[in-house]
Amino acid sequence: MIIPVKWSDEGVLMLDQRLLPMEEKWLTLKSFNEVADGIRNMVVRGAPAIGVAAAYGIALGAKNFVGTNVDDLKEELDYICGVMGKTRPTAVNLFWAIDRMKRTFQKAKAEGKSISEIKQILIKDAKDIHDEDIESQRLIAQFGGELIENDSTILTHCNAGALATGGVWGTALGVVRGAVNQGKKVSVIADETRPYLQGARLTAWELLQDDIPVTLITDNMSGHIMKQGKVHAVVVGSDRIAANGDVANKIGTYMVAVLAQKHGIPFYVAAPLSTVDMNCATGEEIPIEERNIREITHVQDIQLAPEGISVSNYAFDVTPNELVTAIITEKGVARAPYTDSLKKMFEE
Ligand code: MRU
Repeated sequence: MIIPVKWSDEGVLMLDQRLLPMEEKWLTLKSFNEVADGIRNMVVRGAPAIGVAAAYGIALGAKNFVGTNVDDLKEELDYICGVMGKTRPTAVNLFWAIDRMKRTFQKAKAEGKSISEIKQILIKDAKDIHDEDIESQRLIAQFGGELIENDSTILTHCNAGALATGGVWGTALGVVRGAVNQGKKVSVIADETRPYLQGARLTAWELLQDDIPVTLITDNMSGHIMKQGKVHAVVVGSDRIAANGDVANKIGTYMVAVLAQKHGIPFYVAAPLSTVDMNCATGEEIPIEERNIREITHVQDIQLAPEGISVSNYAFDVTPNELVTAIITEKGVARAPYTDSLKKMFEE
């Protein structure tokens, strides 16, 4: 059972995903700044996991506060939330978790709680966010598993597994695990996912741990394999879904969605409602992170491209809603028109 981020009395524990699959090393992060660096530098990654980590980071910052005045604690928390909010721009779960922790603080303050009570309340809420995330993935696994037919091969892009969430299930890999739990025979094709190789390093590692058959391919092989009829469904996660169902996910997802449509293959997106941003009307409004060009010019310390070459490194792309067969959430399966179906899920 993989749980990539945990709370402990010593600090926030993170499985260092930069080192997988070669090394399984846990880091103990003792300050909110260390947690923010862990998110920024991809020790922990994947939208729901980033949200959980940020909540723990805020709780840790509150726990380490040494003052005696609640207004000073508020100022400190505003600062901490500002630092967290600058780590990764696309994964909306980060901002969702920051907002929730802020609201929890405001409520406790309004109720006249003491500083030590507020600290305990914030720690508890961060743990609740974590537990709720795992429960959401369990439900996504159940609903998503039902959409998968027996004897299916599922193609996935990036890592939307336990490692990318609070743990245990995952979103896209949760659907795979759900289908397996329902007694279905499934195998997975994992895109390696250049440049950060979340597919090759993390999805492959996770599925091997669970004995789920997985075949690794390079990103540019998916069209060829789909054309041969070897893919029965595509299932991916998401970093932010707009109110109209446009889906931001790891760079290359859009390409896979276009190919899936061309070959008549269902394209499913699995994500908790904390990934749905009702404040973004369409995918046009989703900020797309651009990362260090060294991720493209180098693999670890090996240089691949000539010195000084101009490089683009967009970390995410947006798949338009018309290419999305369904969005699987903890409240059930949403289908087009998404503006209505997603809205309904928040109203239930
Ligand atoms: O840059 P990352 O590794 O944080 O990006 C994560 C993804 O894009 C995943 O594909 C995932 O689908 C979203 S998180 C479940």
